[in-house]
Amino acid sequence: MWLFNSNAMDVLVQPNALTYRVIGGVLDVFVFTGPRPADVIAQYQAIVGLPRMPPRWGLGFHLCRWGYNSLARAIEINDMMVNQSLPRDVAWLDIDYMDRHLDFTTDPVAYPTAAFGAWVQQLHANGQHFVPIIDPAISSTQPPGAYPPWDQGVADDVFIRAANGSIFIGAVWPGPTGFPDFTAPQTTPWWQAQLAAFHDAIAIDGAWIDMNEPSNFVDGDGDGVKKLPSPTPLPAAHSASDGDSVSAPTAYRGSGPDPGDPKWPPYLPGRLGGATLLESKTVAMSARQYAGSHYNAHNLYGWSEGVATMAAMEAVRGKRGFVISRSTFATSGVHNGHWLGDNEATWDDLYYSIPGTLTFNLMGIPLVGADVCGFGGPNTTAELCTRWQQLGAFVYGFYRNHNTIGKAEQAPAVFPDPYQSYMRAVLNDRLRIVPYLYTLFHLAHTQGTAVTRPLFFEFASDPAVVAIDTQVMLGNALLVSPVLTQGATSRQAYLPPAARWYDWYTGAAVASTGVTTLAAPLSTIPVHVRGGAIVPLQDPNMTTVRSALNPFRLLVALDTRSVAPASAATGSLFWDDGDSLQSYESGACLVLSWAATVSQASGS
Ligand code: NOJ
Repeated sequence: MWLFNSNAMDVLVQPNALTYRVIGGVLDVFVFTGPRPADVIAQYQAIVGLPRMPPRWGLGFHLCRWGYNSLARAIEINDMMVNQSLPRDVAWLDIDYMDRHLDFTTDPVAYPTAAFGAWVQQLHANGQHFVPIIDPAISSTQPPGAYPPWDQGVADDVFIRAANGSIFIGAVWPGPTGFPDFTAPQTTPWWQAQLAAFHDAIAIDGAWIDMNEPSNFVDGDGDGVKKLPSPTPLPAAHSASDGDSVSAPTAYRGSGPDPGDPKWPPYLPGRLGGATLLESKTVAMSARQYAGSHYNAHNLYGWSEGVATMAAMEAVRGKRGFVISRSTFATSGVHNGHWLGDNEATWDDLYYSIPGTLTFNLMGIPLVGADVCGFGGPNTTAELCTRWQQLGAFVYGFYRNHNTIGKAEQAPAVFPDPYQSYMRAVLNDRLRIVPYLYTLFHLAHTQGTAVTRPLFFEFASDPAVVAIDTQVMLGNALLVSPVLTQGATSRQAYLPPAARWYDWYTGAAVASTGVTTLAAPLSTIPVHVRGGAIVPLQDPNMTTVRSALNPFRLLVALDTRSVAPASAATGSLFWDDGDSLQSYESGACLVLSWAATVSQASGS
């Protein structure tokens, strides 16, 4: 069931009940009848729209960090990757490339524009691409004439307004800032003009849109009031209605200092209850947007920025856009991908990235992944980073290593052998599976199927797979069983008996299915190929662009229980130039499918 509503809400999942408490907006409720789990998400995506087809280079390996602190260091890391034969499709830069954290500028000392632009041209010549961070908030305190994004934005009336009609001012990295209202029709042309001007100097290939919840370093209108009056429990009639032992959240009821201000609603959802403000660290609820009050439009901010940024990037590049957003909403997958936000370099967060990735796939945003090797927390370790590089290669549609300022470098190039050789192997495996992965994205784009799937999508009649959250299917053909425990060199896994399974590395048929112990030395991540699948592959060569010049291979995993004329294996390939707009819709592509048959049953 899906409640299509953008207001603040509680969703309580209880053993015998599903309770929504929503504090505004419309009640559009959808029930998807399936019957299979995969049907439910296809039905959902038929309503919200199918995921956008990413450029093929977007499926390669992305390497980022906050705090290279100079172009020289960014170049050095890229050169180390190249010289050590470590594939890297996309170079990323965080806010340290900017001049005083102002969008659409470059630091004149650390990242001088001419050298920066020349480096991006060099990346392109290598078959690599470049994606910078771009935050939504625009500095409001530069001298008149010194900062066109602000001056032009004021002239075009693109900024969110406060209740009193003046431009709403918050504070983000550059200090005082205005927030573009991406729901207003005049904002996308203004945003596109800023991206185009920047693109003239630095030929960016995509945009990483962060801080778009929207994040604000002060609370709403900045009145500093953080605490609400003491919370009071919900009336018994409400809390008891679910009939379960799950206790209802404490609720704030009654008016605050100004009952007319929407920041004092009569009820605050969930864990917000009594603890903080609805407008904590964001724009004031009373602020006005083209689409309505920020109270109603708050949860649409990242979505609306994604729509505007994708439209602008496609217009600026004349090719496919690539936009990764921190905040999303229903239908975001039609426009952009998502990363799972600030995780930590811990084994727990390695695991949590699996349910996170699956959830976004179910919501029609398959271009998703977590910060590989961990963003914050402790410095990553060589072992954890190796395991994370392995997991990301086979589990994440969006595969990016990123960490925060001040932490140790965690690019594969800085690790000694054997770790680096293990990372190289799996980076090459990622490139090897790109034809298969790209085809899965095409199927998602045309049919609403998940790229990364829970096992119960493929083996819906096997009750043993329902609760499995440490293994996934990549498409219908690859079963991935990552190692999630420090020091482990084997793991227990479940190989559904409904299929035959082959080892990804050796091609050997697995003797026993069901619960089994898999060898998993640090050099490898257990991956199994499902009998009955034909998987298109390609020999790797540093980037998706260069690999595309190599021969294809077909991995044919026979379901040897089939007898002719039944197919013993089937598979398909979607292929095009990888970056042109609408290649499928215009027919500038190749769609192949294969079926293998055996004349006689062999094996069991
Ligand atoms: C917050 C983002 O989540 C993180 O990925 C980024 O590095 C920092 N902002 C700095 O831009």
